[in-house]
Amino acid sequence: MRAVAVFPTEKKVSLIDDHPEPALESPTSVKLKVLEVGICGTDREICTFEYGEAPPQSPYFVLGHESFCEVIEVGSGVQQIKPGDLAVLSVRRPCPEMCPACRVGRQDFCYTGDFKERGIKKLHGFMTELIVEDQQYVYTVPRELREIAVLTEPLTVTEKAFDQLSTVRERMPWHDRASNSSTRNALILGAGPVGLLAAMKMVLEGFNTFVYSLGKGDAAKEKIMKDIGVTFIPAEDVKASDVLSPCGGHVDVVIEALGAATVSFEVLQALEQNAIFIFTGVPGRKAPIPFDLSDLMKELVLKNQLVFGTVNAGPAHFRSSIADLERFNVRFPQAVRGLITARIAMEQFAGPIDQPVGIKNVIQVN
Ligand code: BGC
Ligand code: ZN
Repeated sequence: MRAVAVFPTEKKVSLIDDHPEPALESPTSVKLKVLEVGICGTDREICTFEYGEAPPQSPYFVLGHESFCEVIEVGSGVQQIKPGDLAVLSVRRPCPEMCPACRVGRQDFCYTGDFKERGIKKLHGFMTELIVEDQQYVYTVPRELREIAVLTEPLTVTEKAFDQLSTVRERMPWHDRASNSSTRNALILGAGPVGLLAAMKMVLEGFNTFVYSLGKGDAAKEKIMKDIGVTFIPAEDVKASDVLSPCGGHVDVVIEALGAATVSFEVLQALEQNAIFIFTGVPGRKAPIPFDLSDLMKELVLKNQLVFGTVNAGPAHFRSSIADLERFNVRFPQAVRGLITARIAMEQFAGPIDQPVGIKNVIQVN
């Protein structure tokens, strides 16, 4: 089969045509035809060989972790999934030690670090014609999401962040989920796919939402933000340390989707009482950045601030991501479609990896 393969030792990425076709492995296996695979920053890091690991004994691994597929065959023990169903797959698989997190299917919280990730770490990914997966990692998607279902995985980042935020907000004794009484203003850092999906989610959850990012004059992004009703704060005009004032002087929660440390910490330092700051980006390795840590520590304590990082997602987040895409599809049909700015044939995979265009680039596999 054709596949986009990463050869970490040879340091090359190429389209191969002899990747073996997978067969059903057990009664609970599902075979899927891959329709689309999204490309993100992680894929770019993998293709510059800064990240990523092939399965043991294999000279290469197939790229791709943001999937959208059609089921073509199911094992005898599969009841809920049928051929013809549309589906997306999760990314992470449990560690061999079966740590307490992996044991309960929450390998997104794996303790050992020996988890595997399809298309990233020790497992082949989805940029190939056919794949097989156990039913527990396959999530069916309603037909009406056909054009946007490839956004499911990037949205799970925010779904997991939001789930944890919901728990954390309960620390305020007066917090009432229904009226969103203790957290009202949300600031998203970054207007890439994760940032804009996070913005849509926060709007849906009733937050006054602001997006701080470079990109002034990017008509497509500005239109999406206008359509969903968020305020764009261009980083070209507003310094990170001044970002609170265009947010009405107060931000309750920040979702970082930028992967840039300096801006993030400048925003963190500008925050006020009880603010929650959630990191989702992975910064590229850079030279050390000087920073006044004593001041940061003092502010965190004296202002009851909370900072946490989050990676990957659990089964509930895949389900809520699909449910939220359905809500986006009703509420902002144009804007959510606008996130996918290029669909590219598998033969042309190198283009969007070397030179991403627009917001989300998607490889059309079948
Ligand atoms: C993926 C996650 C993965 C993380 C770290 C992200 O791009 O979306 O599923 O856990 O990279 O490898
Ligand atoms: Zn990704």
